[in-house]
Parts: sequence; structure tokens; C-alpha cells
Amino acid sequence: MYQNTASSSPVVADLRSDTVTRPTPEMRRAMAAAEVGDDAFGEDPTVRRLEESCAELLGKEAAVFVPSGTMGNQIALNLLGAPGGEVVCAEQSHIVDWEMGAVAVVSGMLPRTVAAPQGQLDPAAVAEAIRPRGALLAPTLVLSVENTANMAGGRIYRRERLDELLALATEHRLGTHLDGARLFNAAVALGQTPAHLAAGFDVVMVCLSKGLGAPVGSLVAGSRDFMIEARRRRKMLGGTMRQAGIVAAAGLLALETGIERLEEDHVNARFLARELAQLPGLEVDAQTVETNILMVAVGAEKGDAPSLRDELRRRGVLCEAIDRRRLRLVTHRDVDRKALEAAVAVFQQLRQPVVNR
Ligand SMILES: Cc1ncc(COP(=O)(O)O)c(C=O)c1O
Repeated sequence: MYQNTASSSPVVADLRSDTVTRPTPEMRRAMAAAEVGDDAFGEDPTVRRLEESCAELLGKEAAVFVPSGTMGNQIALNLLGAPGGEVVCAEQSHIVDWEMGAVAVVSGMLPRTVAAPQGQLDPAAVAEAIRPRGALLAPTLVLSVENTANMAGGRIYRRERLDELLALATEHRLGTHLDGARLFNAAVALGQTPAHLAAGFDVVMVCLSKGLGAPVGSLVAGSRDFMIEARRRRKMLGGTMRQAGIVAAAGLLALETGIERLEEDHVNARFLARELAQLPGLEVDAQTVETNILMVAVGAEKGDAPSLRDELRRRGVLCEAIDRRRLRLVTHRDVDRKALEAAVAVFQQLRQPVVNR
């Protein structure tokens, strides 16, 4: 239980994001006992173990530990693109909406967004958006795919769709980036390995600090040559850490013990979807809840989504309003079924339209 900054009521359930998970007691013990060295010299044995196990999990030659998913994505795009080029990606991609324009600032590139119904890039629409490498247009250099697609409600790309997109990338000589902040969720939900879903991508980014519950850290993975270059870019961006084994130790535990557990979050998200779908004024399509994120459409009779979010927060249920009509709720390890039932009870109390006070 912790402070609800928007009200004096205690937190019933924090469903804003899976990033709010706190390290487990086992993680804290592993951190305290971690063997460390100076990772700028490649001498931190715990970081090395983390990088090796992550590379193996993703079926790549090597991996590099970075402080955040954002830095990992930007290193990947910088490696694969060049100033003046375009990155083709889904509208509402994290790299476009939530990374402070870094594609332009760090790499001098333009995002070329493509409509992505249900968070899925359609190969025909991508083909349409790809621009030739002539002397007239900014050329498309990179294809970026987000799996799962966060702002589409954690939707999963299946392997068949990935194959179609990657074939297009090969045909047009595009570098390929996978934003796999929640790739492990996709793998668990499909019953496939992370390596299966990462195959064919030049550079993959995965996060340890989301549903896996580590306090800090992400990794980029790819060929040995790409990872040598990734280390150079990490240093340039100020992301090279020293005794980083302290945090890598929690990350190792997250990879070893956190992946299978994600299924619980998915079951809980479906529970929440079923319960909320029964309430007047809220709409949730339970069929579309594939992982740990659900989008709730707020009908006019309930007021608008930001007002509803504020009212829920006053009652201890924390979530995000994505726009005027939609709330986003994310399940994770630190919210158990009992807390979710309590959250549903709070939603049930909100029978009347909510007007912001
Ligand atoms: C799809 C996606 N990519 C990248 C990130 C960035 O991760 P970080 O917050 O560690 O920078 C996030 C964070 O929520 C995300 O949802």
C-alpha cells in the first residue's frame, strides 16, 4: 500500500502501467549479493550473464544492457537508419508518441506512420508507405514493429504477419527493429518462444522493468557486429553504467522467474474485461484482450474519460485516460485478484455520470 498522490484515500489498485511493479524480496536479495565490476570496461560479471541469457532467449548472437526501453529503441533506430531517412511504423507507436521526438533528435530521421487497425501493421499499407531510394524523396530505411502494441491494448502480432512484414523489409532493403517492450507477454500468450517472435529482426529491444518486475533496465539484441555498434551508441547517449550488476541481478531473476508468471496478468486482464463489460456506460471488447492491457470505452452517460479517471483516482483506483473516450488499464504482478475485485467494486459505485470537480 502506498501514497495515492491524487487523494487521501489509500490505493485500491494501481492499473496505470506494469512499470509500477516493485522489486520482489528475492530481487532485493540478489541485488545486495550481486557480483559487480566496471561495466564500461566489460568487467561486470552479472551484466555479462544477463546479456548472454537474454541473447540466448531471443535467439540473437549478442545483447547489450541499457537503462531504459526508450534508450534501447533509439539505439536500435540509430544503428539501422541514417539522417534524412524515414522509419515506417504504426501510428501510436511508442517510438513516435512517447519518446520525445528522439527519432528526429537522436537520429535525424522522420517517422512515417501507417494506420494500424487493432495495432497491426497491414503489409499492403506498409508497401504503400515505403519510399524509394532515389534523389527526390526521403528514403525509407527502417521498419519498426511494436509487439505487443501498447496503445492498441496489448495486441499481438502473429508470426505469419511478421513474416509478411519482414519479407517486405527484405525486398526494400530496410533495417528491421522490434520494439519488444512486452515481447514476453506476446510469447507467453501464444505459447511460443521469444526467439520465435524475434526471428528475422535485425535489432530487438526488450524490457525487464515492465511485467517482469525488475526495477530498471532493458536490452537490445542482434548480431555481434550490431551490438559492438550498440555499445558505442549507448556510451554516446550516456547510458553506459559502471557497477550495473546491482540492477542486472534483478533483471536476471526477472528473466528466469518472471516470464511464465505473465500468464496470470493475462488471466486477470480478461477477468477485469468481463466484469467491466457488464457495467452500463463502459464498453470493453473482451475478445481483444490478448495480454495484460485493456482499453475501456467510456460512454457519454459516464462523462468523459479524464473525468472518470480523476474520480476513480479519488477512490483509489489508478488508471490512464488515453483520450477523451478511453481509459487504459494494465494488469501486473503487484495487483492480485482481490485487489482487482475491489477495483471492480469501485467502478460499480460510479453509477452516475462523472463531472470533473
Ligand atoms: C511499447 C513500449 N516501448 C518502449 C517503452 C519504453 O520503455 P522505458 O519506459 O523503459 O523507456 C515502453 C514503455 O512503456 C513501451 O510501452
